Amino acid sequence: MKVELAASLLWAATACVAPPETLEPRVLERGMVVCEHELAAQVGRTVLEQGGTAVDAAVATALALAVVYPQAGNLGGGGFALVVDAAGRARCLDFRECAPAGASGARVFDAEGVRHPDWLLWSPHAVGVPGSPAGLALLLEECGSGRFTLAQLCAPAIDLAERGFAVDGELHDDLCDKEDRARLLRSAAARERFYPRGAALERGDVLVQRDLAQTLRRYANEGAAGFYGGATAASIVAELERAALALPEGSRVGWVTLDDLRGYRALWREPLRAEFRAREVISMPPPSSGGIIVLQTLALLERLAPSAKTFDAEYAHWAIEAWRRAFAERAAVMGDPGFVEVPVDELLSARWLDRAHASMQDRATPEVQASDLHEGSNTTHLSVVDAWGNAVALTTTLNSSFGSGMLVEGAGFLLNNELDDFALGDGLRNQFGLVGGAANAIEPGKRPLSSMTPTVVRRAGRVELVLGSPGGPRIVTSVAQVLLRCLVFDEPLESAVRAPRLHQQWSPAETWIERGWPAEFVSELRGRGHELDERVQPFGRVQAIRVSPDGSVEGASDPRGGGAALGTRQR
Ligand code: GLY
Repeated sequence: MKVELAASLLWAATACVAPPETLEPRVLERGMVVCEHELAAQVGRTVLEQGGTAVDAAVATALALAVVYPQAGNLGGGGFALVVDAAGRARCLDFRECAPAGASGARVFDAEGVRHPDWLLWSPHAVGVPGSPAGLALLLEECGSGRFTLAQLCAPAIDLAERGFAVDGELHDDLCDKEDRARLLRSAAARERFYPRGAALERGDVLVQRDLAQTLRRYANEGAAGFYGGATAASIVAELERAALALPEGSRVGWVTLDDLRGYRALWREPLRAEFRAREVISMPPPSSGGIIVLQTLALLERLAPSAKTFDAEYAHWAIEAWRRAFAERAAVMGDPGFVEVPVDELLSARWLDRAHASMQDRATPEVQASDLHEGSNTTHLSVVDAWGNAVALTTTLNSSFGSGMLVEGAGFLLNNELDDFALGDGLRNQFGLVGGAANAIEPGKRPLSSMTPTVVRRAGRVELVLGSPGGPRIVTSVAQVLLRCLVFDEPLESAVRAPRLHQQWSPAETWIERGWPAEFVSELRGRGHELDERVQPFGRVQAIRVSPDGSVEGASDPRGGGAALGTRQR
């Protein structure tokens, strides 16, 4: 199916706050959109071809993903966007979900004091105040070209929701996943939407979502207020109340209210920046852990193996050991900077690197603790560049695939289960196997610590790489591995994205390994004392763009998923 921006979307001359001449000259051969669904990539490409910038295209692509990629594209979740303009000015937008005012650590205990961690995956206690609608509207308002209104950029998504689109094999397979299916079947509206004949939608079925089209229309016409108030907000609260009936009576309090929705704000954050191999790497600060861990990884590997020639077993050993230490810090000290002081400078300092370096050896060190270093999805990513050299890396999430599984009746979108990203305490692991402490404990209004890592690399005054990934904590290690392959080993983008990956997150001590590594590589890692776990396959779905020094642009949508990299047609 081909998506055209309706004629009414073309040029809103009166809304133009950035005259075209401020965007000249074009410096890249063309623009590019890379994301996890071809129809959404087509929407973004059309915006670029109609004179939109990377921000305009990213907003339209994200809204289209909210229709065609219900696994993670969303109105009911949240995310982060990193915008880097052609002059190198960078801004991070945090539209992560936050805990409602009534949230407390007691939310997973029933009246008898029995703990129910699964409530954090499917019940109203899992749901954070959605951030995506506020985030996308603010992103467009403050960073868009002014050539397109929100209503214009919503139009393709509304069209896809109203006319429907053909279900692909990936959506069918995901609907058949045992755990995702169990969550979705708890919600009457999700059951009707995704299992209309008592079984998952089949490949080729046309999925029409008229209620979602109406929700998008209210948002298109009224902006964020059309989501956080009125009929949409009322539907969210009604859905949570309905879902709460599945909980024991004493546990039916503390979820998202109309006041929580009205009070939600997306926040600008200062990006993290570091020099690496004659480039500038720009990434997401807290409440993401991703930027810090990626920068720590790059810096440590530069010390440990400055002259490595390939991503061999020795290099992988050092990467694993770097992640072990970085993730130990994640569990100990990282959280929402509005609530806890995250020692970002310290974590990126030479002193931290010295300590981490000194604690490493030729063999695995599963026993390392954060105190040794200190004194003291589902998700989806899209990358866009425009021909003027502006870039957007935007990662957005419902947390689990299809989030909580709760489809808001009458409004047609899924609610997140992001509150599982808070630390449960007592050494309990969340769905990603992560542990954490007080820094990431739930508090009213607080944003749960994330691993989303939208990242941009600049070289010689222009964007060189734009990337990010879904995958919970595996986002960080996936992004780091693609960066290392591209920047250290000069691998072509496509093979850097395709290459098998490793993941280490300090606890558990095992390193996860994808299939596809040579047998000698695996045995050398085992020989160095690494416990390898092959149970989870595959990890991450990196969506990346690389710009060559001559201005030519190449995109890579991870073959682990079914996405697309589409360049604009004109050169
Ligand atoms: N929900 C996944 C993350 O933000 O890390």
